Amino acid sequence: MIKLIKSSFHHESETKRALADFVLRQDVLSMNEQCRAFEEAFAARQECRHAVFVGNGSVANLLLVQTLLNQGRLRRGDRVGVSALTWPTNVMPLIQLGLEPVAIDCELDTLNISPRNLETHVSGLRALFLTNVLGFCDDLPALRDLCDDQSVLLLEDNCEALGSSMAGTLLGNFSLASTFSFFVGHHLSTIEGGMICTDDEELHDGLLISRAHGWDRNLAVDRQAGLRAEAGVDDFHAKYTFYDLASNFRPTEINGFIGNRQIPYWDEIVGARAANFERFQQAMTGNGDVHQYDLTHMDTVSNFAMPVVCRTPELARKYRAEFEAAGVEIRPVIAGDITRQPFYRKYVRDTAERPVARLVHTNGFYFGNNPELTGDELATLCDLVCG
Ligand SMILES: Cc1ncc(COP(=O)(O)O)c(C=O)c1O
Repeated sequence: MIKLIKSSFHHESETKRALADFVLRQDVLSMNEQCRAFEEAFAARQECRHAVFVGNGSVANLLLVQTLLNQGRLRRGDRVGVSALTWPTNVMPLIQLGLEPVAIDCELDTLNISPRNLETHVSGLRALFLTNVLGFCDDLPALRDLCDDQSVLLLEDNCEALGSSMAGTLLGNFSLASTFSFFVGHHLSTIEGGMICTDDEELHDGLLISRAHGWDRNLAVDRQAGLRAEAGVDDFHAKYTFYDLASNFRPTEINGFIGNRQIPYWDEIVGARAANFERFQQAMTGNGDVHQYDLTHMDTVSNFAMPVVCRTPELARKYRAEFEAAGVEIRPVIAGDITRQPFYRKYVRDTAERPVARLVHTNGFYFGNNPELTGDELATLCDLVCG
């Protein structure tokens, strides 16, 4: 069986052994030095100023939106564009926190929102919370320019695109802030884990406050002093003063330790996934049964799963059956057309069609792209996508 997820971590047995030793000798297992070190290492690899480590990618999205609301950069009722092809917890935080999601259709050759698609929805949007779908992107520099021109706050949900790049820039660095997921099977696993990256100092401070109860304990000393002076807080009460709306989104030292063990494999992980993607893409080229991607604008495509979108529902049935018969685990492409999901219909009054997301929903599926795929497994997968 070629499973969607082949291992819990890259170099799994060494990582598990090191983890067992770490747990045995470690006193403090709640968020501490390991988490801080992982944040620093991740920010360096992601080429951004700040990285804030949290429990998973879903709460990374929730924390980001909560903090932007706290800071008045978003307001309740604001309309926020999202990709029609995305994961539910990209959209749910908007609904949970009183914002209005506006699902924008994707392009068939990139599976992402394009400037052309954004243009028809941009008026009235306060923000665009873009998903870089399965390691792919559309014209991110043009999307950023369009958002700048229209004063739309651009955010990237980069949970599916660690290591992908365009125009010499890593995805996740085209916006005010980006989120990452370290769930098992994603590019880099900490079992559960997520990150928010930003270069913005004020946002960084707000994220640190709202990640942990609303207190200031994780801020730099000078920032703490400023807040305490402004609120007239004495030393006795300082540790139990709560400055803004928050929750507890913290990771543990176990997640931090694993992150620090995995990050040296970044190039290995991204390189293997990108090389596998190239092979799948080449094998698909010329197969008239499936829609072709145009990702020539990208430098690196690093994905954890390979989407296949067939031209008809009959072909989708045929290909899905062939993959399953060959022992390949497959599933729908992310969550398909998000506007067709029961939660979206319950909370968002919106009956418009997103034809491309719908087509991907109906005619698509994906299989795993893991760094551990063997030569034989790669050959099987290439034969299958070849048609
Ligand atoms: C686009 C996107 N956003 C957010 C998430 C949530 O990440 P997590 O599973 O770490 O909560 C996922 C998960 O797959 C995702 O694909």
